[in-house]
Amino acid sequence: MACSRSLLLSYYVPLSFAHAYWPVGASTRFYHFKVQTLRVTKLCQTNDIVTVNGKFPGPVIYAQEDDRVIVRVTNQTPHNTTVHWHGVRQRLSCWADGPAYITQCPIQAGRSYTYEFTLVQQKGTLLWHAHVSWLRATVHGAIVVYPKTGVPYPFPHPYEEHSLVFAEYWHKDVLRLEEDVMSSGGGAPPADAYLINGSPGPLYNCSATDVYEIAVVPGKTYLLRLVSASLNTEHFFAIADHRLTIVEADGEYTKPLTVDSLVIAPGQTINVLVQADRPIDTYDMAMAPFMSARNVPFQKTPAVAHFRYSGAGPEAPSRPAEFPAFNDSLTADFALSNLRSLNDTGVPLVVDANLLFTIGLAVEQCHSPHPNASCRGPGGGVFAAAMNNIAFVEPTVSLLQAYYDNTNGYYTEDFPGFGSRVQLVLQNTGTVGTENHPVHLHGHSFHVVGHGTGNYNPTTAQLNLADPPYMNTIGVPAGGWAAIRFVADNPGVWFMHCHLEVHASWGLAMAFVVKDGNGTMESLPHPPADLPRC
Ligand code: C2O
Repeated sequence: MACSRSLLLSYYVPLSFAHAYWPVGASTRFYHFKVQTLRVTKLCQTNDIVTVNGKFPGPVIYAQEDDRVIVRVTNQTPHNTTVHWHGVRQRLSCWADGPAYITQCPIQAGRSYTYEFTLVQQKGTLLWHAHVSWLRATVHGAIVVYPKTGVPYPFPHPYEEHSLVFAEYWHKDVLRLEEDVMSSGGGAPPADAYLINGSPGPLYNCSATDVYEIAVVPGKTYLLRLVSASLNTEHFFAIADHRLTIVEADGEYTKPLTVDSLVIAPGQTINVLVQADRPIDTYDMAMAPFMSARNVPFQKTPAVAHFRYSGAGPEAPSRPAEFPAFNDSLTADFALSNLRSLNDTGVPLVVDANLLFTIGLAVEQCHSPHPNASCRGPGGGVFAAAMNNIAFVEPTVSLLQAYYDNTNGYYTEDFPGFGSRVQLVLQNTGTVGTENHPVHLHGHSFHVVGHGTGNYNPTTAQLNLADPPYMNTIGVPAGGWAAIRFVADNPGVWFMHCHLEVHASWGLAMAFVVKDGNGTMESLPHPPADLPRC
């Protein structure tokens, strides 16, 4: 005991000197993530996938509000890797954010990098995932941040809590998958399965016993932490014969909202309360695709887990969950339209900068001499995507490093200055059909003050400045718009992109530079000594 304690101290002290200006946490939580290759068998096929510490999904990070988190990531695979702490606001710790070629170069084979950040005024469910290539398909896990000791949840304390991590699974190596999709010019092939905590459930071939299960005591209330680590698909979630009461979204409390089913987009986290108040039986907890785009092939079989009351016979068939039609946007939008933050989250009532960005997919003409191989988009073209008509091209250096070193040619300085109150309207204008885009902003949460169908009209748009949800990923409706407000008070380079990975690969991405303010508490610290080099 004494020995490991002094080890921790000697490890911690030099680091705290190195980052003297970073906020110091209440307690410090240490984790060591070994990124490894793991052999798994799913749907009767054996493949090697990349995971962390031999677990799939990876380990949960547990912490309390205001804690310091230190995660040493060691790359034991032959591929480049990074880890992003999705939804962590990274107050003065942009170097620890994780997106490859945005805030760091990848961690190369055999190397390590130590991520350090403080969960400043953050609690709730978030997620971590690899942020390079399509590796996050399998390199992901939940982050659970409890309130400070003695601070209760703003709802009746649940009997038990469970995390449900949703994923899409391909038998094919996901790095190959990305290469093939990008060189084909066409869309991404459907997943071979959806998974709940690594299991597809009995609707898939060869998976009758590969089912995640929660054992339930009748009469109790359960808190389910839903985490979407899905790559390219949004999902409905429902439990047979049970209603879901949403109490938190993207790690921020909401006013309770009770629904039969909800939609969760890649990168989103939603906490729901479920009452075990039905007859003793086994009920399906299932995720099924929500697909707003037309003519896009997708996996239609839901993943199923079990909500099994104690006393239910193991051989009795489970009760199936019911879902809206896969393209039922009205039901899908219901929760978002009706979500309200529980507390006053300090919405800026006045804005200093008003921005309108278009986002959408497009098809470019084929210029390849081998159209059959490389122009497999609609009409023999090549899929592309853009924000403000610019397709983001991944740089070969880290943008944050380039900005810190004043290297020309990688960024412009026209983003509103430190502390600006920004309103950003995202207008979904796909020219090839329209699809809902879950847009994620790094380093900040934002107030979702409005959204609607058609084109945004500043004179008629109804904005909620009283109790809008405070989120980090916003589904911009198919053919519609969403308006968000945030304060640009965290210096660094912050990625903003569609969290459907294939859209980000096509270029639906950009980065903001937030300049320093005054003094060390408003300035980007120096890079840590072990920051990976390109
Ligand atoms: Cu969850 Cu830039 O990502």
